[in-house]
Amino acid sequence: MKIVKLDELSKKDRDLVVAARKAADNAYAPYSGFAVGAAVRATDGNMHTGSNLENAAYGLGLCAEVSALTAANTSGNFDRLEAIAIVGFGFFPKMHASEIVTPCGRCRQLISESAQLSGIDIDVFACSGDLERIEQYKISELLPRAFGPQSLQSSNPVKPSNISSRPVHGRKNRLTRA
Ligand code: THU
Repeated sequence: MKIVKLDELSKKDRDLVVAARKAADNAYAPYSGFAVGAAVRATDGNMHTGSNLENAAYGLGLCAEVSALTAANTSGNFDRLEAIAIVGFGFFPKMHASEIVTPCGRCRQLISESAQLSGIDIDVFACSGDLERIEQYKISELLPRAFGPQSLQSSNPVKPSNISSRPVHGRKNRLTRA
């Protein structure tokens, strides 16, 4: 883990953190009063963002990371992510934005799956809502000895796009069976 400052980050990492902070403004979190934003970046530099989405049936709430990872997957980028930023703050009954938000256990598992697919030990920027405090981790630090595709001896998963008879646009999935 490294403690880093926003203005010391490279432009692309700073942009990622700022995108996560912006995404938190769109959180739907009336029940917890806690807004979270997440932004992921693929190796081609493209970013995908998400915010938490709660529900009157409390247990159905979705984390910001799930939302960002799902957006990345929809764009075909789930298996080529290199970094994620997470920013959160309480806004009800009053603002509190000075605590760092690290990803919950389920989200660590989801990030780890992406990392295992790409072979990239994803950078995780865990940030306070005011962006005054940032901790930089590798996903392997946050989830050591992770369960993953190789645990199922299925390190070569088939994706629908790999078996489609239609021409597939974009790159060939690197895990495509020969
Ligand atoms: N939350 C996230 O979106 N990501 C995390 O990693 C931690 C928690 C959300 C879930 C819930 O909507 C709110 O924060 C309070 O737990």
